[in-house]
Amino acid sequence: MNKVAQPTIVVASNKEDAARCTADLIHETLRENPASVLGLATGGTPIGVYRLLVERFLAGELDFSAVTTFNLDEYIGLGPEHGQSYRYFMQQQLFDHVNVVREQTHVPNGLASDISRHVTEYEEQIQQAGGIDLQLLGIGNNGHIAFNEPGSAAASRTRKVDLTENTIEANSRFFESAEDVPRHAITMGIGTILESRRIVLMATGKAKAQVVQASLEGPADPVNPASLLQGHAGLTFVLDPESASELQL
Ligand code: F6R
Repeated sequence: MNKVAQPTIVVASNKEDAARCTADLIHETLRENPASVLGLATGGTPIGVYRLLVERFLAGELDFSAVTTFNLDEYIGLGPEHGQSYRYFMQQQLFDHVNVVREQTHVPNGLASDISRHVTEYEEQIQQAGGIDLQLLGIGNNGHIAFNEPGSAAASRTRKVDLTENTIEANSRFFESAEDVPRHAITMGIGTILESRRIVLMATGKAKAQVVQASLEGPADPVNPASLLQGHAGLTFVLDPESASELQL
């Protein structure tokens, strides 16, 4: 009988400790291979992780000079200088403060004139870099990972997607109003994410408790995209006590 891989679940003592655990996993990956390929996420959850990585770089403990990065997603219509674009976020939170080579950082281009060609090239670039060693993920309240909304297929690839009302609403906190939130995005697919050698999903706060429980203990179902990570051999969930509070097992 084939054994299904079980995820590693780390319940940290609080949100800050969850960031430290996640930063440690990235640190470990870079220690094993300084030329690692990292998959990166934006959003509120990883901000503490990036702060720690910057601190460790400044303390001389980390070197990003050989690292290659691929971000999960980007809003269509927002350029790198737009304050809410994910390229801008990454520059502000991490890239501008460490010695990563700009040409080795990849964020989907929200202004690409030919999106279908761009997404194909993005997948090719990941392949050419040797695949993703560690993919960092957050999780939406509806289970989305990257911008793979409920209903996304396990085999989906990098593509253009429509955002759901739930996500537009959740992300409107970063814009002046919900009307300003772009309606479309480019996202890595779930199939693309599943090819990463290691996946670290980080979640904090009570609002994520239900979806974390469903993702780990419910059925693997496209209704909850994060549940499709089940069975990946290198999957780790890093949680704080609040986001872990609905787990039964
Ligand atoms: C961000 C991303 C999203 C977020 C998710 C959670 O690149 O892909 O899926 O990870 O929306 O966002 P926060 O961390 O703000 O709760």
